[in-house]
Amino acid sequence: MAPDRILFYQPLRTEDGSPTLVHPVFGEAYSSRHGAWMQANELYLKLTRTHQHPAPRVLEIGFGLGVNFRATLENCVQRGVPLEYLSYEFLPVSREVLASVEVPLSPHARRVWEEVLTNWPAYPQTFLALQGTWGRLGIHFEDVMTAQFPPRWASAVYLDPFSPQVNPEPWQFPVLERLLAALQPGGYLATYSVAGQVRRNLEAAGFRVEKVPGVGKKAWTRAKRP
Ligand SMILES: C[S@@+](CC[C@H](N)C(=O)[O-])C[C@H]1O[C@@H](n2cnc3c(N)ncnc32)[C@H](O)[C@@H]1O
Repeated sequence: MAPDRILFYQPLRTEDGSPTLVHPVFGEAYSSRHGAWMQANELYLKLTRTHQHPAPRVLEIGFGLGVNFRATLENCVQRGVPLEYLSYEFLPVSREVLASVEVPLSPHARRVWEEVLTNWPAYPQTFLALQGTWGRLGIHFEDVMTAQFPPRWASAVYLDPFSPQVNPEPWQFPVLERLLAALQPGGYLATYSVAGQVRRNLEAAGFRVEKVPGVGKKAWTRAKRP
């Protein structure tokens, strides 16, 4: 969709061997340098307990390279449970860039991902919707600052913008307050940031916030809608 080219993005091999890219303007990697695939699975999928949910509904901030989507899809097709995945992305990469980042997938999940690539918009579009026996994917190509989230819809929220230093808007109270309203009671939000201001904003929005051990010295944040 965006007029971007793979050569604008710096490729990075993360510590678990999976690839990511460094964004040319934000100057940050799309996923953790400790492991892109690891982060998608351990932080987003498992910390929100999506890996055990019988019919997960995930709301994601920042579709990026679709790594979190693919990790969640893989888990759901392995378990034979339907997935509903709703993501928001205001700067979508081109199909060429998206296709350049490969992660290990079973044949079933790979077929779904190929369908995403085939249907990935070549020109600006506001919404992408796909569905199959595996479930449904919806991507709103819009800014989360103005997006309307469905109330009490999500079993999990993956809060995955770039860092609060370079990409402060999605971490602010008005967005977090709307994310709380989009979660089902008892649902979890997970994010890689443990910045004090982010945690205070989450608490002010009404979440019950905990700092949990991540990888190495890195900690992660999990927040629950009471
Ligand atoms: C760290 S990357 C997300 C990686 C992604 N979750 C994945 O699994 O590959 C952050 C993404 O958030 C998007 N983003 C940042 N601010 C946004 C905003 N205000 N509205 C919508 N998307 C935003 C960026 O364009 C970028 O694609």
